[in-house]
Amino acid sequence: MKVKQRYLIISVYYLLLLTIFASCSGNDQLQVSSPDGSLSCEIGHNNGMITYSVSKNNKMIIDASTLGLKTDQFDLVDNIKIISSEKNTFKETWTQVWGEQKEVLDHHNELLIELSSNDNMRMMNVRFRAFNDGIGFRYEIPQQEGVDSFNILDEITEFNFTEDSPSWWIPAYAYRRYEFLYANTLISEISRDKFSELVENLNGPRIGPEAVQTPFTVQREDGIAIAIHEADLTNYSSMTLKANGTKNMECDLMPWSDGIKVKAKGPLNTPWRTIIVGETAAELPLSTLTLNLNEPNKLDNTDWIKPGKYIGLWWEMIGTNQSTWGSGPHHGAKTERVLEYIDFGAKYGFDGVLVEGWNTGWDENWCCTGEGENFGFYEPHPEFDNELIAEYAWKNAIRIVGHHETGTQIANYEEQLDSAFAYCKRNGIRVVKTGYVNDGSQNIKRIDENGNIQKEWHHGQYMVEHFRKVLETAAKYEVSIVVHEPIKDTGLRRTYPNMVSREGARGQEFNGFMPIDVHNKPDHTTILPFTRLICAPMDYTPGIFNLKDYRYNSPDDRTINTNHHIPSTIAKELAHYVVIYAPIQMAADLPENYKGNPAFQFILDVPTDWEETQILNGEIGKYITTVRKDRNSDDWYLGSITNENARKLDVQMSFLESGKEYNATIYKDPVDGGWEAKPEEIIINNVQFKQGDQYTIELPPGGGQAIRFTPQS
Ligand code: NOJ
Ligand code: CA
Repeated sequence: MKVKQRYLIISVYYLLLLTIFASCSGNDQLQVSSPDGSLSCEIGHNNGMITYSVSKNNKMIIDASTLGLKTDQFDLVDNIKIISSEKNTFKETWTQVWGEQKEVLDHHNELLIELSSNDNMRMMNVRFRAFNDGIGFRYEIPQQEGVDSFNILDEITEFNFTEDSPSWWIPAYAYRRYEFLYANTLISEISRDKFSELVENLNGPRIGPEAVQTPFTVQREDGIAIAIHEADLTNYSSMTLKANGTKNMECDLMPWSDGIKVKAKGPLNTPWRTIIVGETAAELPLSTLTLNLNEPNKLDNTDWIKPGKYIGLWWEMIGTNQSTWGSGPHHGAKTERVLEYIDFGAKYGFDGVLVEGWNTGWDENWCCTGEGENFGFYEPHPEFDNELIAEYAWKNAIRIVGHHETGTQIANYEEQLDSAFAYCKRNGIRVVKTGYVNDGSQNIKRIDENGNIQKEWHHGQYMVEHFRKVLETAAKYEVSIVVHEPIKDTGLRRTYPNMVSREGARGQEFNGFMPIDVHNKPDHTTILPFTRLICAPMDYTPGIFNLKDYRYNSPDDRTINTNHHIPSTIAKELAHYVVIYAPIQMAADLPENYKGNPAFQFILDVPTDWEETQILNGEIGKYITTVRKDRNSDDWYLGSITNENARKLDVQMSFLESGKEYNATIYKDPVDGGWEAKPEEIIINNVQFKQGDQYTIELPPGGGQAIRFTPQS
């Protein structure tokens, strides 16, 4: 199917409202408002500097904040004049290949200001877009004589909040990439020391500035929630936010090893800097701003991209510790064991079986230094009979989900990319999970033009471009990608719908290998929807049923390590399938832990591709209730989760279709249950609901609730 047919453009009107071709100087103010008028962005021009500020409901939420770029050939910071400006309105509805909602409305007002240096030698545009859910802007360096290749040395983009609000953040420039629990402090209190005190003792000396990753979320006294992020991170390095002990933050680009921030070519559009705004925190998760600021789908044919669910030969390594990735008596990816997984997956209608440890390279210290043995990406381990397995999977109408752990040996992976994805295509593999484990901070090996080894950051331009290369190569072979240890989500799934999911946050795996004092806390997944998950899928890998006494001391020593206990309940694990969006979701536990458990039915039923999503309630770090309508039926699903506190949440069944009666299957914790008391006990009952009915969701500490609503025929 052609792209054009995929995009159902309901209406497009592109209206030139105003063009000013005047030489503006001094304090000229330019302004753009969201279509509903609730948000506005004002541009200031003083002493050769350009600033922007943002207001919500006529209250300023971002104070005058400086804009500008410094390069090795020219600076556009304090020598700027405004040449012209132009305003446009745009409205279109487009259809997602898959998603948390089928149709996405892109309705925004745009302000383009054309700038030049005072001496007229250099040109730059700043394009602002005001949506109802936030503001985006980017720098554009147009084609101009003498500007071909240049290096960006600094991007002067400030985010000066008007209030020193509570904020939720993870550190940048830190060894675990994005895989940290969130700290919650005032903006002015952000510091690595504070993080260590509150969340985790950060290892190693500080080698980067005091900065946090995006999305970075704050909530004001009046309830307005703001997330700073970026969209369409292309040919650039990723943005972090530098903290300086005040309520002001500043863009800090992850540098190359030589200190240059971005190696650029003109003409250049930077990624969009975004300020996502909700009247309440519950408005943040459903923002579509990031998607709307990405380019439309570039793939001609997307029929091969299939949402779905997978199981995997994985938890027995990372969770229960009974198997190994590498060779030896406990090697997990042995043909016979893989066939058992295929049988189980096929019996219950799963789409895929992930197999880790299927290839060569796991035997020599592959983890976590970037220095291990080279992995082979089209060379099966001798105990993994690829041909037999591919044929067996094919006969059972199930797909193997491939796995490419690179250990961040980037050159080794790039050399094999084409052959690796050709292997996938030959063997019916249509989804690959990639991985980039390296626990050094600035530790990604790059061989430079002179053959010397340089060490790069995980989130600098070198890696941004590597991740894109993998995605584009995978698309050529009709393979979708789920990236672990990725670059953050900036909405690229719109342009490349084979970018189906990624990790990029602390996932379930930490509950597997981390003991109880440092595992994910019960509030972790009540923070994620308002931070990392804003407009972005995640491969969290929910669905662990055996929550206590699941981990062996070692594959050789099959005695239980009692230091491990997942801070969740079966009901909360089910709710995660609704709360945490992913088009490709894993049922992460071992098959034997699902067999005979009636709660497994919810995992079998819950879809991964949605017509519509609503957030019924939510407070950052406390609770959230999400409802979604299946894209392929009239069923609705509800997921509700709480932090370490028990609570009652009154909800109204406003989302159900009027005039219909629904059978609801409720999966809930016992009221005296919770993550510590009775995590593996679940109550399942059936009730009827219709539109407008009231219902009280009762959640014990660390618990959750999941409901399937099916209309009566
Ligand atoms: C870390 C990933 O997050 C995990 O899912 C994977 O199993 C290991 N790396 C090995 O690749
Ligand atoms: Ca990981």
